Amino acid sequence: PGLDVLAKRAGLLYFGTAIDNVVLNNTAYVAIAHNRSEFGQVTPSNGQKWMYTEPQRNVFNYTMADEIVKPAIKALQMRRCHTFLWHNQLPDWLTAKNYTKPELISILENHIKHEARYFYDTCYAWDVVNEAFNDDGTLRESLWLTTIGPSYIELAFKFARKYVSPRTRLYYNDYGIERVNNKSLALQKLVKDYVKRDVPIDGVGLQAHFTIGRAPSYNDTRGALNLFTKLGLETALTELDVRVDLPDSEAKQATQAAVYAASVKACVDEKSCVGVTVWDFWDPVSWVPSTFPGYGNACLWDEKLQRKPAYYAISDMLRDE
Ligand code: G3I
Repeated sequence: PGLDVLAKRAGLLYFGTAIDNVVLNNTAYVAIAHNRSEFGQVTPSNGQKWMYTEPQRNVFNYTMADEIVKPAIKALQMRRCHTFLWHNQLPDWLTAKNYTKPELISILENHIKHEARYFYDTCYAWDVVNEAFNDDGTLRESLWLTTIGPSYIELAFKFARKYVSPRTRLYYNDYGIERVNNKSLALQKLVKDYVKRDVPIDGVGLQAHFTIGRAPSYNDTRGALNLFTKLGLETALTELDVRVDLPDSEAKQATQAAVYAASVKACVDEKSCVGVTVWDFWDPVSWVPSTFPGYGNACLWDEKLQRKPAYYAISDMLRDE
C-alpha cells in the first residue's frame, strides 16, 4: 500500500503532494503524482496563484490550474487549493500601480469572487491567505498591508466565504509556525480574535519547510498544532519537505527520514490535523535548490524516481499506528 492508503488507515483524511506544471510532460512522474494509493490529495504548486489566474485585470485564466486539478478529480484525489492572497507571484498590473484602498479592496473581492466561483466545490480547502506574518510576529510589509491595513486578512476570508462552496474549508497558511514561537503565537492571537468575532476561518496550514539539523521535533510540531486545536480549528501540514546541505550522504538521508516520520506522526497524533501534503515528491522539481543554493534532495523520491529512506520511514511509521 502507498502512503495515502496507510495514512487513511492511521486516521488521516489524506496524504498528498504538490504538483507543478513544468513536469507534466514526464509520464513516469505523472503516473506517481496521480497514483491515488500514494497521494490522496493534490495541491497545484503554482497554477492557482494570482499572476497566472488573473494575468490582466479582470481577465481570468485557469489553464495551468486545470492541468493539475482536472486529472486529480479524475483520479479521485482531494484538492487543496492554493492561494487567493499572497505577497508573491502577483501580476504586473497589480504591483506596478498605486491603487487606492477602495480600489484594492474591490480588486481583491473581484479576484476571489471569480476564482472561488470557478473552483466552487472542487476544493476540499483553500489557502485563503498565505504568509502574512514576519518571524517576529508582526505583519509582513506588502501592498495589501500598506494600502488596506491589517484588515485585509479578514476581508479575504469574508470574500472567500461569500463566493466559495460552504463545504470548502478556509485556511490561513504560513511557514516557520511549526513550533511555539513569536510567529505562531501571533497567529494564534489573530485566529482567536477571528473565532470570537465570527470571521470565517476553518483551519491553519503549517507549511513545514524544514532543514535537517534544524527541524522542529515531534513535540515542537505537536505544540504548534495544539495552539490551533485549542481554538477548535482544523490543522494540516501543507508543504512538508526536508532539505539537506549538499553533498548528501547516507547519514543525512537517515536524519531526513527521521524528520519526515516525526513530522507526519505529529499530525497523525494531533486530533485537529487532517492531513499531510509534501511540497512535491521528486528532488529534481523541488523549489529548494534554486532558492537555497547548496541545499537540495528535500523530497521522498530521488532523481532516478526511486523511493528514498524518508519514504520508507513514513510508510513504516504509519503501519505501526
Ligand atoms: O512561469 C515560468 C515558466 O514559464 C518557465 O518555463 C519556468 C522555467 O523555470 O519558470 C516559471 O516560473 C517559475 C514558477 O515557479 C513556475 O514553475 C518561477 O520562476 C519560480 O520562481 C516559481 O517558484 C515557485 C515559488 O513558490 C515562487 O515563490 C515554486 O515553484 C513554488 O513551489 C513555490 O511555492 C511556495 C508556496 O506557494 C508558498 N510557500 C512556499 C513555497 C516554496 O517557495
